[in-house]
Amino acid sequence: MRIILLGPPGSGKGTQASLLSEKLGFPKIATGDLLREAVRQQTPLGLKAKAVMERGELVSDELVGEIVQERITQPDCQSGYILDGFPRNVNQALFLERIDGARTEIVIDLEVDEEEIIRRLSARRICPQCQAVYNLEGKLPRHEGKCDNCQADLIQREDDRPEVIRKRLEVYRHQTRPLVEYYKGKGNYQKIKGDGKIEEVFQAIYSWIKQFIPAELRR
Ligand code: AP5
Repeated sequence: MRIILLGPPGSGKGTQASLLSEKLGFPKIATGDLLREAVRQQTPLGLKAKAVMERGELVSDELVGEIVQERITQPDCQSGYILDGFPRNVNQALFLERIDGARTEIVIDLEVDEEEIIRRLSARRICPQCQAVYNLEGKLPRHEGKCDNCQADLIQREDDRPEVIRKRLEVYRHQTRPLVEYYKGKGNYQKIKGDGKIEEVFQAIYSWIKQFIPAELRR
């Protein structure tokens, strides 16, 4: 099984992917996190991706495809995995089917209006070490400015500056939104309102995907 989280920047894909991962025991694969880690480590991939990400544009399909292929062929993905931020365009969706086409695929499309997105992203803080996500207006860390898991200083993402948020929303509208029609046509697609409380959104997602989860994996 593979669960794909679609939705604009800040719609809660990462937050919900983490909750689903805990509930189902499938790994969460977030291409944004993998790329940010590569930037932090200054790997050849990170050096290529850094400027593109800071502008709010998409990294090339080839580079992202490589990291996804490498990750989903790991043993922990055998029963299932959760994709956050991939695919980002129809070309990436077709690539995914070519490399791993035989799985049941479930697509959740989180819907949140732009005003709320800008509010959330401006208040987001992340841990640069473990990628945990917080929010100054909602999900606060236990100790101000410090990650609950690894006590590192929390930072604001480079691409959460207002002008880059605007660019990311534009890229989403033009390049990622066409995926909605693509997945609607394939079935197992569900739009979910993402503007409720985190737990409410999770319940809405889980009540829909339950039908696809084998009984032995339901917790
Ligand atoms: P990526 O990291 O994937 O960013 P994104 O898609 O823009 O999504 P975000 O991480 O901003 O938001 P989210 O929907 O995960 O929301 P979150 O849960 O954090 O990609 C970054 C960049 O990497 C791209 O711009 C691109 O350059 C590159 N990239 C990545 N994948 C790529 C690909 N496949 N191809 C090419 N390039 C790629 O929540 C946001 C905030 O809101 C948090 O503070 C959270 O606490 C809060 N929050 C969450 N849910 C709620 C709620 N229900 N109520 C209130 N607050 C909430």
